[in-house]
Amino acid sequence: MSLIEIHNLKVHYPIRSGFWNRVTDSVKAVDGISFNIEAGETYGLVGESGSGKSTTGKSVVGLEKVTSGQIIYQGQDITQPANRRRLHYNRDVQMIFQDSLSSLNPRKRIEDIIAEPLRNFEHLSKDDEKLRVLQLLDIVGLDADALYKYPHQFSGGQRQRIGVARAVATNPKLIIADEPVSALDLSVQAQVLNFMKRIQQEFGISYLFISHDLGVVRHMCNNIAIMHKGRLVELGTRDDIYHHPLHIYTKRLLAAIPETNVNQRAAHRATRQAVEQAYQDQQARYYDADGAPFPLVAVSPTHFVALPADFAQSLAHAEQEVQA
Ligand SMILES: Nc1ncnc2c1ncn2[C@@H]1O[C@H](COP(=O)(O)OP(=O)(O)OP(=O)(O)O)[C@@H](O)[C@H]1O
Ligand SMILES: [Mg+2]
Repeated sequence: MSLIEIHNLKVHYPIRSGFWNRVTDSVKAVDGISFNIEAGETYGLVGESGSGKSTTGKSVVGLEKVTSGQIIYQGQDITQPANRRRLHYNRDVQMIFQDSLSSLNPRKRIEDIIAEPLRNFEHLSKDDEKLRVLQLLDIVGLDADALYKYPHQFSGGQRQRIGVARAVATNPKLIIADEPVSALDLSVQAQVLNFMKRIQQEFGISYLFISHDLGVVRHMCNNIAIMHKGRLVELGTRDDIYHHPLHIYTKRLLAAIPETNVNQRAAHRATRQAVEQAYQDQQARYYDADGAPFPLVAVSPTHFVALPADFAQSLAHAEQEVQA
């Protein structure tokens, strides 16, 4: 059984207008997505800005009201508040936010920020609590004198580590990490990702790792879902997505990864232009008449793509021939 199963999740925001302020339309931020996360794995959710990634993350953790669909945890649908309470879901599933400065209360000291989930769920004695907070700071590589400081006294990378410490405080099963390193320099990105990996190995945590950048998730994720316009356009293992991508949108995200090898730059630029051209020219083949992604079809037991079945098969065959 998977750690968590997301079935046909939809989150629609009402748009109100007119004199009576009636609901006239809706933003379909998440529009029917399904995927499973296994225990101990890192699952990547990748797409461009506005594709619905944060809305998905927030609804999984319970911060956003679900319009329809199910989120199954230990066999129960936790979109029902009673199930969420019974399973201690709010303790077991934590979130690291996209923007660490606005997600950490500026008026609270680090000690209180990290202790907050402990106070909500664990009820330790004062001494035990302090010991645990010190332990958590140590895990993410911060000194004890951080205890009495405030969030603005830290760098972005240090603040993200404080976010990690708070998220792991209650020994969660799953952490939703929403662009945890996007705001950081490349060197600091690697540091925070390494902490996250080490903590995962030590505590057996699963991550739902959200990013707009396929380059960042490459070394983190076992399985990846590509999101566009509130739907999933491709879903597969790391090998499926990086080495056998089928949807033009996935190819476009792959082409957007910066090339670090100077000798390859010209070739890389040509590839990116060709993919961009194909993306512009072939909209009608890759999206339905309304411009929305098609439903997913399987091309292998692990690999799914949002295309008409015959088109998906012919792309998969062409891909196999190139490989052979
Ligand atoms: N509270 C809200 N009310 C109305 N629309 C919203 C709300 N929150 C998000 N949206 C809309 O839903 C869509 C998806 O937003 P979301 O924040 O999930 O995107 P994202 O993939 O996380 O983007 P980014 O990479 O920029 O963080 C966007 O079109 C956004 O404008
Ligand atoms: Mg977001």
